[in-house]
Parts: sequence; structure tokens; C-alpha cells
Amino acid sequence: MDAQNYLQHAIAPRPICFASTIDKAGHVNLSPFSFFNLFSSNPPIVIFSPARRVRDNSTKHTLQNVSEVPEVVINMVDYNMIQQVSLSSCEFPKECNEFIKAGFTEEKATMVTPPMVKESKIKLECKVLEIKPLGAEGGAGNLVICEVLCMHIDESILDDHDNIDQTKLNYVARLGGNWYAKIDENNLFKVAKPNTQLGIGVDELPESIRTSKILNGNHLGQLANVHEMPFVDPSYNDDKLKNIIQYFSINPDEMDTELHRYAAVLLDAGKIKDAWQVLLADV
Ligand SMILES: Cc1cc2nc3c(=O)[nH]c(=O)nc-3n(C[C@H](O)[C@H](O)[C@H](O)COP(=O)(O)O)c2cc1C
Repeated sequence: MDAQNYLQHAIAPRPICFASTIDKAGHVNLSPFSFFNLFSSNPPIVIFSPARRVRDNSTKHTLQNVSEVPEVVINMVDYNMIQQVSLSSCEFPKECNEFIKAGFTEEKATMVTPPMVKESKIKLECKVLEIKPLGAEGGAGNLVICEVLCMHIDESILDDHDNIDQTKLNYVARLGGNWYAKIDENNLFKVAKPNTQLGIGVDELPESIRTSKILNGNHLGQLANVHEMPFVDPSYNDDKLKNIIQYFSINPDEMDTELHRYAAVLLDAGKIKDAWQVLLADV
């Protein structure tokens, strides 16, 4: 189905919920779902969506299980688990336990009946509050709205202050088709949160900066996040800035370009105050 293909490539990357569920007869199921996210922290609510199969409009065992026993353990997926996670998504018969098929270890949960995946570094024990079907045809999702009752966090991914160390998680996310993303130290980066004070906004930047042919959208976003227009600091001392001004003083257009180039380098290095001083030499 074309729509599914376009949507799954476009709305990506998506975190993966590795859902452990159980039916009334006690059959355990373990399946991955990337239609998944956090929607509230108080109350703590996560939602995932086992869809009706496009092929024959049948429903997934996971959906059948949570309809019978409204409990689920959501096990978070890291890079070390991904091949086994993918294997568990095969359409094994209902009586078949994917813990065994995919080679994961069952660990008893503390508040719900389905077992946890021992190998997962973060597990959420959840009560299913509501199941909301989004349609009756093939491809229709079913929102499984879950309240997180308790979280298990492996100590190995904590920092010295007992916070989760994002760089230690090595999470995997799903994109379109067979594409996955590995999130690790090589591709993680930080963006400074806008202050409690408002940023001035791109519309308030001086025109020469706003319409710069050198500075890109990220640069403008950084510059416009200051809460008031900075002033020239007479004590600001930078040899490269001095050189640019001296060398290009006979050609204002070229000076403009060089200052913007230098400001771009500073912004890429996160030096916003310095970049402003460089740009103000010209405004
Ligand atoms: C990484 C990954 C993410 C998936 N995400 C979803 C999803 O969000 N919704 C869905 O219906 N199926 C999804 N699938 C497919 C199901 O895991 C697959 O249909 C599985 O067989 C369902 O198992 P069950 O019938 O035992 O519940 C995904 C598969 C993989 C490998």
C-alpha cells in the first residue's frame, strides 16, 4: 500500500516498543511496534498501535492479548537486541512464545502478569487503560493506551547523578522500509533550550544578517535565541576579527562576506556570543 510506504518513510525515526503480553490461557507474546510514543508524564501515558494487516485485515496477537488481559510490559530496544527483535516480528502461531523463538530471557514483572525481557535496559510495566480502534479496514491502527505503573532501569546506563545517560542507551529507531537508525555518541548532539525569557526571533534580526547568503537557518535560529539584541562590546578582542576588518576595509562587500563566514564557523562551534560580536562589527 503506497500510503503506508510514504507515511512510514516520512514519519521517522520512530522509537520501538517491544511489547510483552499474555492471553487468558497464559500464552505469552512478544512483538515490536514502532507506532509508539510518550504522550503524558503525569499521568505517565504511552501509546502503541498494532494495526490490522493490510493483506487480509486480520488483527495481531498482541491486540487480541491486551483485549483479554489489559496489561503489557514495554521493553525498550537497543542496538544489541535489534536482530532478535526483528526475528520476533515473524508471524509465529499464537501458541508460540517469541521469547523462545527470538532467544530472549523471561524475567518476572512485579506488578503485571506478562514477563519482562531481561536483556532490555529499560522496561515499563503498564496497565492498558483503553484500546481505541482507528478504523475497520486493513492498515487501521488500534491505539493501546497504557499507563506506566513502574519503570525498571538498568544501572549500567545511569550517570553519576543517577540520571539516564543518553549516550549509553545505544537506542535503535525504525524508519521506512528496512531502514533503522542507531543512536549513539557519534550522532547525538545537543540544542540549547530556548530560555525562559523569549528569544528575539528571526524577524527581529538586522536585515543584513536575516538575508545573509552565508548564514543558514540553523545559524539564524541560534542568533535569534538571545533575549535581547546584543551590543558591541568595546573590550571584545579577537585577532581574526581585527585582521578581517583591516584587510577588507577597502571593500565593504567582501568584508561582509568574510565576517559572515567567520560568524558561521563560530556558530557551528556553539560560540553564539562571539558570533554576535563578529556580526555587530558590520551591522
Ligand atoms: C521494528 C518493527 C516495528 C514494527 N512496528 C509495528 C507497528 O507499529 N504496528 C504494527 O501493527 N506492526 C508493526 N510491526 C510488525 C509486527 O511486529 C508484526 O506484525 C508481528 O508479527 C505482530 O505480532 P503478533 O501478531 O504476535 O502480535 C513491526 C515490526 C518491526 C520489526
